[in-house]
Amino acid sequence: MKKGFFITIEGCDGSGKTTQWDLLKQSLNQNSNNLVFTREPGSTDLGKELRKILLNREDLILSAEAELLLYLADRVQHIKEIIRPALEQGKTIICDRFFDSTIAYQGYARGLSIEKIVLLNNIITENLKPDLTIFLDVDPNVSLSRSKDKNKIEFEGLEFQKKVREGFLSIAKTDISRFEIINTTNLSIEEVHIKILELIKKKSCKNN
Ligand code: TMP
Repeated sequence: MKKGFFITIEGCDGSGKTTQWDLLKQSLNQNSNNLVFTREPGSTDLGKELRKILLNREDLILSAEAELLLYLADRVQHIKEIIRPALEQGKTIICDRFFDSTIAYQGYARGLSIEKIVLLNNIITENLKPDLTIFLDVDPNVSLSRSKDKNKIEFEGLEFQKKVREGFLSIAKTDISRFEIINTTNLSIEEVHIKILELIKKKSCKNN
């Protein structure tokens, strides 16, 4: 039975999501061993191998369908090894990307059926949903120019990132109780960090 609190952080490539996740780790982890910081893809041993295949192997041609199934394989292992056990122990999880990324990237941007992705995802997650999803929204023109060590997906370019962003915004509209959007375009890293801390405090208090 799920007793903990599950937070996901989402955004396009270069949205500053991982920087914020690292900052949270520094500011929150010092005070608590009740927190688990994790990410997708690549948090389990299997996931680390899948991450290399998905993001670093320029020589490997993956169909959109195969790519989708590898992200799902990463997720199912991640849930079994890390997420479910932590939630059952009553821990708070802060996860850098989860299933909304699959809907936005493989669905909205790659063009696979969103209905089928949601169905497959519900099967492998056994309907596990985050309690809070924070979407860091930024103009893709800005975010793409920010990211330096580009992965395979970032090489898809601006039009792709625009579709990813539209995807996240559409999901947010259909799930307003779970989603919080922070527009980071004109905010400093520190200002975004404070907003995220406030949201986590507000939402996790409500839950307790
Ligand atoms: P990141 O760790 O820097 O966020 O990079 C992960 C990349 O993987 C990013 O380009 C988005 C992509 N991705 C998908 O395409 N689908 C997914 O389901 C997930 C979790 C990530």
